[in-house]
Amino acid sequence: MSSTKRVGILTAGGDSPALNATIRGFGKSAIGEYGMELIGFRDGVTGLVENRYATLDGKALSGILTVGGTILGTSRDKVHKFPTADGPVDMVPTVVQNYEKDKLDALIMLGGGGTAKNANRLVEAGLNVIHLPKTIDNDIALTDTTFGFATALEIATEAIDRLHSTAHSHHRIILTEIMGHRAGWLTLGAGIAGGADIILLPEIPYTVESVADTIKERTRRGSTFSVVAVAEGARDVGDTADYEAAQLLVRNAKTPEAQRAARTHLANVENAQREHTFKLAKELEAATGLEARVTILGYVQRGGTPSAADRLLATRLGTAAADLVADGEFGVMVAARGDGTQPVPLKEVAGKVKLVPADHEWITAARKVGTGLGD
Ligand code: F6P
Repeated sequence: MSSTKRVGILTAGGDSPALNATIRGFGKSAIGEYGMELIGFRDGVTGLVENRYATLDGKALSGILTVGGTILGTSRDKVHKFPTADGPVDMVPTVVQNYEKDKLDALIMLGGGGTAKNANRLVEAGLNVIHLPKTIDNDIALTDTTFGFATALEIATEAIDRLHSTAHSHHRIILTEIMGHRAGWLTLGAGIAGGADIILLPEIPYTVESVADTIKERTRRGSTFSVVAVAEGARDVGDTADYEAAQLLVRNAKTPEAQRAARTHLANVENAQREHTFKLAKELEAATGLEARVTILGYVQRGGTPSAADRLLATRLGTAAADLVADGEFGVMVAARGDGTQPVPLKEVAGKVKLVPADHEWITAARKVGTGLGD
């Protein structure tokens, strides 16, 4: 048997800055330091199931540190509910077969919360898996931060900076919708760094009255414009109650029919709330008499070259994962801890979401500088 370790790597979930920097960090160390062989699966879990991959050598890893997206491609497919013409199928056994056929000693999975769950399923099936925490949302439990977040923070902050001057010139309210799924880290960070007048987060349901009062108070003090940073998951008190009630129905549904009906209801509620930032803009116009405009930052937050902070984090996490493969330590996520890294058992991470705690010091700091949080 060869002593050379053969390792697979993939990127899964939504793309994010520094995926390539992380592939490079892992690959250069795995190949250069430890003499391992590396293959890259295409399009996340899809390529793993379909056994589509390419060998990654030094040449393939060169010149990608600064490149946005992922050279491997990505998808949101799940191993246990893989889409087929006959409906979703559990492909964990297929992945195990491919892993054996490809003679792998380890599999490195770069991704967010969904990928952590997929990775844990493969750990439970007996594979040697290491997960590296990626997401612009920064919502993965038990790690200080995730790669992609720092870059998205820079992009969203710059957008708020730029929106300030146009809001000021036109005496308008400008609402900017920022990604983050159901977590408010990106909006809170960018809102503070960009000096947004109001920051609305999923973790703090707002009332239109409170937001309007903050704007009217600013007008009384002579500021004829306001910049509102709105998390894509932020909702007013009423919509939050509707959403939570729909989620509860799904959790409590006992029969398959009840589950189907509850899921359809939840999807309808989510759909009805999709345009929430535009709805808020109209409500604020009516309540304040000021003109309002909406800017949805969207995928620009995920694209392009990673920041220096993300390149550094990616290289630290990637090289730490290569050390773990060399040491034979698996079934973990490589967490960022201060200046170092720490392996955390995947079963402790999978299925958890890190939201902004109400007493987090970013929240306290925002309140202390007079930022409205809509509550
Ligand atoms: O998780 C990253 C993220 O960009 C979220 O902020 C956002 O809610 C979601 O992905 C968008 O997903 P998709 O790429 O499937 O549209």
